Amino acid sequence: MTAPLRQGELAEPIVVTVALGARAYDIAIGRGLIAGLGARIAALRPGAKTAIVTDATVAKRHLATAEAALKSAGIESSAIVVPEGEGSKSYATFETVCEAIIAAHIERGDLVVALGGGVIGDLAGFAAASVRRGLDFVQLPTTLLAQVDSSVGGKTGINSRHGKNLVGAFHQPILVIADTALLDTLPAREFRAGYAEVAKYGLLGDAAFFSWLETNWRDVFAGGPAREHAIALSCRAKAAIVARDERETGERALLNLGHTFGHALEAACGFSDRLLHGEAVAAGMALAFAFSARQGLMPVAEADRAIRHLAEVGLPTRVKDIPGGLPPVDRLMELVAQDKKVKRGMLTFILARGIGTAFVESGVDERDVRAFLSEKLAER
Ligand SMILES: NC(=O)c1ccc[n+]([C@@H]2O[C@H](COP(=O)([O-])OP(=O)(O)OC[C@H]3O[C@@H](n4cnc5c(N)ncnc54)[C@H](O)[C@@H]3O)[C@@H](O)[C@H]2O)c1
Ligand SMILES: [Zn+2]
Repeated sequence: MTAPLRQGELAEPIVVTVALGARAYDIAIGRGLIAGLGARIAALRPGAKTAIVTDATVAKRHLATAEAALKSAGIESSAIVVPEGEGSKSYATFETVCEAIIAAHIERGDLVVALGGGVIGDLAGFAAASVRRGLDFVQLPTTLLAQVDSSVGGKTGINSRHGKNLVGAFHQPILVIADTALLDTLPAREFRAGYAEVAKYGLLGDAAFFSWLETNWRDVFAGGPAREHAIALSCRAKAAIVARDERETGERALLNLGHTFGHALEAACGFSDRLLHGEAVAAGMALAFAFSARQGLMPVAEADRAIRHLAEVGLPTRVKDIPGGLPPVDRLMELVAQDKKVKRGMLTFILARGIGTAFVESGVDERDVRAFLSEKLAER
């Protein structure tokens, strides 16, 4: 069960709006907000029934709280519990979830509630997009990664045998509730991995936020108002980009800072516990900054500053920080090229001219990346 709130802990939520016209929605951020889940849903969709999709670990910790919050507002709910982990973003589990939603008589006008991390948000969101050609859904993210990234922006989906997130839909939630108290039960390693995506918003577009994180990251990890502030600024940054480029025809690609190198490393580790997504992104951002400095885009000292902060919070920043062996550079280059299409020996990367000034560069010479990666692999 979620820990009860102590006196005075319930602050006013911070609300960030994702401005998408008729599909605009709010992200409410604050400690203890799950208690108001029912009231918020009743206000948005009077009379709606709900199906809560969650994973086994999250169910143990927070399902009863979510159910009680719905019940207190007179909202009927049924629970759909799937195994935890990336393996649930599969056709098989997708089928299970869709069938369970139908069996629960969730119809147009009713709601799917995604209670969990990015796996649950992506899976439940895609099921919501698919059943009856589209049901409304609410995101109740329970990991830091989900609160600052995956629950916002409407990308939903599952994995194919050919790669991650290859089957899915854009389907925006009608509400996101980021209850920061839910993060108290998150393992420290998962929190830290999610923090990489927080730092990403500073590194890609907000130097002042990055400076603030350098000073205040310990308070973000400890919880309290600093955590809420960091989540709110992250959501605001993502919401602004999504509002301008929902379908990723341009600017939204900036959110992939660190993800090309990161995905290659993640794939090289078999998407296993050896390297969590956020950890791979941290290492990937460190590589992207070092590579940008190598290309003469920023002083080495600027790249070092970015890397130092990621290392200070305990995230991997060097290839040698990744436990176990890595494949040779040829294989890593294949994985890099898989992530981003190669056009006439040129790769597209998110590079930076400094902290807070990332940009999309589609003319990165494949040979420069190979030479850079070979050198980094030799440092092991
Ligand atoms: N849609 C998007 O825009 C987007 C963006 C980034 C990542 N993603 C996806 O998100 C997924 C990763 O998300 P994630 O890192 O949240 O992983 P996750 O959902 O697997 O959660 C990580 C682990 O933490 C556990 N957990 C979750 N909340 C908890 C809590 N409050 N207390 C205790 N344990 C808890 C889960 O059971 C799981 O074991 C990937 O599949 C990735 O592709 C999607
Ligand atoms: Zn990511």
